[in-house]
Amino acid sequence: MSTLSIDNISMRFDLPNGSHVQALKNVSLEIKTGELMSVLGPSGCGKTTLLNILAGFLAPTEGQITLNGHRVTGPDAERGMVFQQGALFEWMSVRDNVSFGPRMAGKREKEWAGTVDHLLEVVGLRDFKEKAVYELSGGMQQRVALARCLANDPDVILMDEPLGALDALTREKMQGLVLKLWKETGKTIILITHSVEEALLLGERLLVMAPRPGRVHKEYRLPFAELGAGRDLREVKKVPDFAAKREEILTMIWDMEEEIMGRAEEAGA
Ligand SMILES: Nc1ncnc2c1ncn2[C@@H]1O[C@H](COP(=O)(O)OP(=O)(O)OP(=O)(O)O)[C@@H](O)[C@H]1O
Ligand SMILES: [Mg+2]
Repeated sequence: MSTLSIDNISMRFDLPNGSHVQALKNVSLEIKTGELMSVLGPSGCGKTTLLNILAGFLAPTEGQITLNGHRVTGPDAERGMVFQQGALFEWMSVRDNVSFGPRMAGKREKEWAGTVDHLLEVVGLRDFKEKAVYELSGGMQQRVALARCLANDPDVILMDEPLGALDALTREKMQGLVLKLWKETGKTIILITHSVEEALLLGERLLVMAPRPGRVHKEYRLPFAELGAGRDLREVKKVPDFAAKREEILTMIWDMEEEIMGRAEEAGA
């Protein structure tokens, strides 16, 4: 079984004033092909830094990442990224956005047209493929971003709060779509979110990170993503276990936030 292996990663940012930030310290994880892992944690605990290292945008100061046995040293189409917003070519059509990766890889239209049409169908944008991105709603734009990422056929999809800018109703629909894509494609997905509910719904694994230094605090294995695939997610939220886990994790994150605030007050005093 191929895996994404995060082996004792630390990341230290040296600041111009001579001080430094230890954004990550000794993070180790093994993520199997096809796993869907959500990541939660207070602001500043290193979630985006970890994702940027996995994407190859940043080199860690210690440790290494390997994917399917080879070391990650920079960005590559095998690891696709979906951002919160703003990473699309607004003036281009939906179809041109989704086919961007294959076209840049030098593929001819007949090689990618079928896949792109299929992806547009899956994300519900078949009738919008000739529209420019700026003409679409936020939810539709995020569907374009998902399809564009999948068009590169990555092994791993990295998502940094992909649904964070959407209204509640659109967000719930998109959560269903993420589960559907996960089930249909079998891709490995790592999804950062600030929403405890979203992390529970979408993570068969849920990683809670702690700050200063950014590290793994706790990990859960959860049944809700499997339960929710193809179902109304509101039904999943009614499962008694779901409410219990939500309370447990909310309390954990609140306690961390309070500790951070306390330390900030001490430092200011
Ligand atoms: N390029 C950088 N230079 C210096 N410090 C950085 C840099 N990038 C991140 N940091 C610091 O590293 C820490 C972790 O940042 P990161 O953006 O990974 O947190 P996060 O968990 O994604 O937070 P949020 O939930 O607010 O998005 C923070 O203290 C941040 O200020
Ligand atoms: Mg972040």
